[in-house]
Amino acid sequence: MGFLSDRLSRIKPSPTIAMTTRAAELRAKGRDIISLSAGEPDFDTPVHVRGAAKAAIDAGHTRYTAVDGTPSLKRAISDKFARENGLDYAPSQVTVGTGGKQILFNALMATLDEGDEVIIPAPYWVSYPDMVLLAGGKPVIVECGIDQGFRLTPEALEAAITPRTKWLILNSPSNPSGAGYDRAAMQALTEVLLRHPQVWILSDDIYEHLVFDGFEFVTPAQVEPRLKDRTLTMNGVSKAYAMTGWRIGYGAAPEGLIKAMAKLQSQSTSNPCSVSQYAAEAALTGPQDYITESRAVFQRRRDLVVAGLNACPGIDCPTPQGAFYVYPSIKGLIGKTSAAGATITDDEAFANALLDETGVAVVFGAAFGLSPHFRISYATSDEQLTEAVSRIRRFCEGCN
Ligand SMILES: Cc1ncc(COP(=O)(O)O)c(C=O)c1O
Repeated sequence: MGFLSDRLSRIKPSPTIAMTTRAAELRAKGRDIISLSAGEPDFDTPVHVRGAAKAAIDAGHTRYTAVDGTPSLKRAISDKFARENGLDYAPSQVTVGTGGKQILFNALMATLDEGDEVIIPAPYWVSYPDMVLLAGGKPVIVECGIDQGFRLTPEALEAAITPRTKWLILNSPSNPSGAGYDRAAMQALTEVLLRHPQVWILSDDIYEHLVFDGFEFVTPAQVEPRLKDRTLTMNGVSKAYAMTGWRIGYGAAPEGLIKAMAKLQSQSTSNPCSVSQYAAEAALTGPQDYITESRAVFQRRRDLVVAGLNACPGIDCPTPQGAFYVYPSIKGLIGKTSAAGATITDDEAFANALLDETGVAVVFGAAFGLSPHFRISYATSDEQLTEAVSRIRRFCEGCN
């Protein structure tokens, strides 16, 4: 009998964090590294948000708060859902946690029993399957390839549903592909879901505001109100307001689920940081210019990266609707040998050779459940992106 639990042996450390760490180690050894592996905006938190946090400290808001959020933050979140998503959630149907990550974790831990199935379209955010496994559930991975725009089709959803299906996790726009579901695509999925009342929908809307070319963001409970009483609509301030370190995420759902999630949180982490809650409230209720400004910058960078990658022999890079990632295919490079003699057997070999030979750190597709691809996070400066893309091009040109 080992000391560590069986539960822990089911999961692996986050591969995106592992790649970021490897890049940092090489940099510490003096290598010229461009890291395109981290999933966070490179901007500073808006000034008025930082000011609200300082004021909260000076006003003495430094004690425990209600377990799953202050009443005024819950009110601000409820107003946000009404204003931006046309969703009517009472503050009692809102919960606040330490990042969107904790909201997802609470929901899965509070609802999954051994053998319960959770449908996860691939490519997926790396944490979904591991969170499901930790909670004792069974991830049911449905591959959504490049030819279908990395989106789940209604037919594939219908085929994946069984009597044991408890949740479908949807993430639009997606990490890692940037693919978004427009209203018609979302409606096609909700029509399937209406026929299966045992299935709940976990909608991860964390990249809601990072959409390009006028793409209209929609969320399932808004598109099909009849699904609202079995949907958890999850969101957070990390990506929308450059607040990854503040650790505030939130969700809205029927009160029974919200109370269950709060019960779990009360016996684990209690309230999210009091000061961060005041900062998040300022972000949600204050001026929203940051969102439009950062969106324009990300759209410019997306265009730069997509054009640059499509000029690389062997790479095919679709144009994503949102988030700050691209998920190109390297099908054209599989089986080739790099200039330094590495065989590109799969996307992991590609990412390792690229890092070793050019100093560009990306995350290989197998980590997100769909190969042969890699993910670039373009949340870094135009100069770094231009240099990275030209190094990738030289690498590809050197493969034969
Ligand atoms: C798809 C997705 N969901 C949720 C999160 C969690 O974000 P946070 O815990 O910072 O709110 C992330 C962060 O990378 C993400 O990419």
